[in-house]
Amino acid sequence: MKGEPLIVAIDGTSGVGKTTVARRLAVALDVPYLETGAMYRALGLKVDQLGVDPVNQSKVEELAADLDLELRREENGTVEVLLDGRHLGDRARQPRISEITSAISAYPRVRRIMVEHQRSFAESRGAVVEGRDIGTKVFPHTPYKFFLQAPLETRVRRRFKQLQESGQSNLSADELMREVGQRDERDSTRAESPLTLDSSYRVVDTGSRSIEEVVQVILEEIQQRLMKSPA
Ligand code: DC
Repeated sequence: MKGEPLIVAIDGTSGVGKTTVARRLAVALDVPYLETGAMYRALGLKVDQLGVDPVNQSKVEELAADLDLELRREENGTVEVLLDGRHLGDRARQPRISEITSAISAYPRVRRIMVEHQRSFAESRGAVVEGRDIGTKVFPHTPYKFFLQAPLETRVRRRFKQLQESGQSNLSADELMREVGQRDERDSTRAESPLTLDSSYRVVDTGSRSIEEVVQVILEEIQQRLMKSPA
């Protein structure tokens, strides 16, 4: 890709398929893939490790400023988020950490710090960047913005299967449904950088399509836009 680095923003709620789709897009477009949720989860892990109350905003913001966070590009193109020099591991995806992460990601200073990391990583080399505020706040000027959506029931079914398969949670499907619903609500209604979209996004339904189809729809849209305004 010549000219400006290609930045593709993939936003949407949890369990909508962002990670799988973004990973495949990055391979197809030959740019790194950055999962910004993992960066917030790294802070969630730290808060949990140190026994800090997630409600204690100033303490959490202090931790964010001191966080030893590294974004390391692996040979396969993915970007590993390292906390204190180590991979986050499966624990970062446990429901307990998801809850803490959702709470602490609402803090303005936490967001400023994470967004700085995200910009300095992607602006120089391009990336497929996945999160909640990528097209609205982090890279508002990229023309490649996609908002993935699927019904809550579909998303919970997928997440439940993932958690069961990796043995990471003993929540029932109903409990998970409640938890995911509450988390989505919190992520979408917070004052700072809520999950939202505007007309600059292309909305893609992932409930009624296979992963391959979603990836194809997005790649075609990017190609069309690239042809209209070549970099
Ligand atoms: O994508 P995920 O489920 O791993 O994200 C974990 C939490 O981090 C989720 O509650 C929303 C938050 N998050 C955010 O606020 N902004 C982002 N760009 C990415 C994630």
